[in-house]
Amino acid sequence: MEQYVMRGRIPLNGEVEIGGAKNAALAILAAAIQASDSVIVENIPNVRDVNVLLEAIRGIGGIVDRIDPHTVRLNGSLITDYRVDYEYIKKIRASYYLLGALLGKYKQAEVALPGGCDIGSRPIDLHIKGFRALGAEVSIEHGLIKAKADRLIGTHIYLDKVSVGATINIMMAAVMAEGKTIIENAAKEPHVVDVANFLSSMGARIRGAGTDVIRIVGVENLHGSEYAVIPDQIEAGTFMFAAAATQGDVLVKNVIPKHLEATSAKLADIGCTVREYDDAVRVTMKGRMKRTQITTLPYPGFPTDMQPQMSVLLGMAEGTSTVTESIFENRFKYVDELTRMGANIKVESNIAVISGVECYTGAIVSAPDLRAGAALVIAGLAADGVTVVDDIHYIERGYEAFPQKLSALGAQIEKVSTEKELQKFRLKVS
Ligand code: UD1
Repeated sequence: MEQYVMRGRIPLNGEVEIGGAKNAALAILAAAIQASDSVIVENIPNVRDVNVLLEAIRGIGGIVDRIDPHTVRLNGSLITDYRVDYEYIKKIRASYYLLGALLGKYKQAEVALPGGCDIGSRPIDLHIKGFRALGAEVSIEHGLIKAKADRLIGTHIYLDKVSVGATINIMMAAVMAEGKTIIENAAKEPHVVDVANFLSSMGARIRGAGTDVIRIVGVENLHGSEYAVIPDQIEAGTFMFAAAATQGDVLVKNVIPKHLEATSAKLADIGCTVREYDDAVRVTMKGRMKRTQITTLPYPGFPTDMQPQMSVLLGMAEGTSTVTESIFENRFKYVDELTRMGANIKVESNIAVISGVECYTGAIVSAPDLRAGAALVIAGLAADGVTVVDDIHYIERGYEAFPQKLSALGAQIEKVSTEKELQKFRLKVS
């Protein structure tokens, strides 16, 4: 079994380059099939989720040409199969973006219903409500969501809850509907804006992305385009937190500092120095971190995808902090693992009460999901002794070359796949 093994308490120092945003790339690659010619998408992260989605697109007849690890040429104009199997959807939930993209372009789509995910129940009722409002008939049969329309007609949709996925999926269908669509209470995340910009680069008419009202005027055709995905705010935040946790000094490059405001503000709250440059942020931490409170919220609030990493920092801060998870109910599964490293955390419903300890101690822990896995790596980098993180396939879904990037900052971390390699690492660092 593949694992990350690391020896902690080494301050991270130096520079790290952030890749393209996974969540933006997933939606953009799905939307790319809507063009009638080839589309080139750059700055794609070379991570498992993206690779699975590209396979799913190939699986329905899309032409996918990997120009280099971070650039793809994609042509979806010859797709004749509108059914995306469970094989893909069980690997990545985001393949449901093909529902909006296929429905928009081909007026029909069948995508396996995503199963329960490990961070809580993740319904897709809002996506379905949006497609129905646009005039599609949507049914759920034999584990498949089937959506079909003779015509999609623009309409006024109010989302009862702010949802990134529903906003993007409805937007993709609506750009090829007839007439005007208004999406109210839309998500404002940077990747919603990125997808809107990408669709616009193909000829879509969208206004208001990044606010809570998105206005779309449908077009008949979308043309080819060349587009570069925005930097990944969560990968950036993860490295910023790793710098702080290890008392380090790291310049995180190729970021949009505005997208990191909530993350930077909380780092400043707990005593870190965060300096912003045009396309980089530098995080420096000296001394014990201070307590704070956080509540996860839709953008521009504190991102739920940074919640586990934040808890790891607060677990070492002076005093008692609280972390309230308001987006996904089951996002504290890493707490038991962190407790095994010496953390003192009590979870009551959606609130974690964290009493900071001086230092974690290395242990063997398992990644329960993608972001929690990254958080456990941060804990290991800060811990006394050796930490082994299991189930790293979750981490590899969303972080490209994670151990390599950390090593370049001075961390002692390796990916191992045998007991012998693990022992060799232990001997080397002892
Ligand atoms: C996306 C991100 C994920 C991030 C999340 C919140 C991708 C691939 N994933 O997930 O990393 O944690 O945004 O920023 O981009 N909801 C409903 N009905 C729906 C849809 C959502 O009730 O039809 C609820 C969810 O249960 C959740 C909330 O709305 O409580 C927000 O979920 P949503 O923004 O849709 O998350 P995802 O798009 O799945």
